[in-house]
Amino acid sequence: MSMLHLNPLQPFAAEATGIDLRDPLTPAQIKAVEEAMDQHAVLVFRHQHLSQTQQIEFAKSLGPLDMGLRKLKGGPHRLEYAELADISNVKVDGEVADRAHAKIVGNVANQLWHSDSSFQKPRAKYSMLSAVTVPDFGGETEFADLRMAWDGLPDWRQRQVDGLQAIHYALHSRFLLGDTQYTEEQRKAIPPASWPLVQTDPRTGRKILFVGIHACEIEGMTLAEGRMLLLDLMEHATQRQFVYQHRWQVGDLVMWDNTSTVHRGRWFDFTERRELRRATTEEVSA
Ligand code: OGA
Ligand code: MN
Repeated sequence: MSMLHLNPLQPFAAEATGIDLRDPLTPAQIKAVEEAMDQHAVLVFRHQHLSQTQQIEFAKSLGPLDMGLRKLKGGPHRLEYAELADISNVKVDGEVADRAHAKIVGNVANQLWHSDSSFQKPRAKYSMLSAVTVPDFGGETEFADLRMAWDGLPDWRQRQVDGLQAIHYALHSRFLLGDTQYTEEQRKAIPPASWPLVQTDPRTGRKILFVGIHACEIEGMTLAEGRMLLLDLMEHATQRQFVYQHRWQVGDLVMWDNTSTVHRGRWFDFTERRELRRATTEEVSA
């Protein structure tokens, strides 16, 4: 039976080999993947070329599926499953979207450091992103380890932030980018979620500095002071020594833990085709 092998990538991720994700995972393989995620938080599987069905089946073997923001913006969907997020600059008709197309703002929003679905409860646990078409230049995805970020905070800062609650709101990043065309109903459709700024991973016992662009307020602080603190903490958490940068190859499947990392896409030329598909599981609380 094929078993998981890990080749560590700096500073925390790992390349995973030995498992073919196109086939159903055995219970032993699922356990091995989960344990590898506990340790590395980001796993890179090369040469997978998953079909949409294979990607959905792989994700389902790791937990219930998350729908993200798709319930907010209905519209036509390009993929076979509503549960797959279309991380692309391609329109329903198969053509690359014009820069002014509504879809492009979603591409830009993904270039801000974030944790998928941290604006809702339950939030996202694992995201699994599969590369279909990648541009010649740019379009990398970066990951920052929020456990390393916590460990790297000076004592005074750890004492300052422990016990604080951050409010995460789905549309905060969109508003930042000037995307404000939402009805009152849409604005209320996903109410803000409050998460402790400092968390302990129930599986590993490691502490996590849970920041990201969806966090827009600190409970009990003024907006100004809370936002400044969040900006400072994000700057700290995303220093190069805590960041793994993934350069995509077609067929890659990259998996990350949204409860212990943040990620962002990097610049690419929006006139070039970039097509990825994401399946995401919900966090199941103990
Ligand atoms: C995502 C995401 C970034 C990228 O799929 O959740 O944020 O590089 N992607 O496309
Ligand atoms: Mn994302």
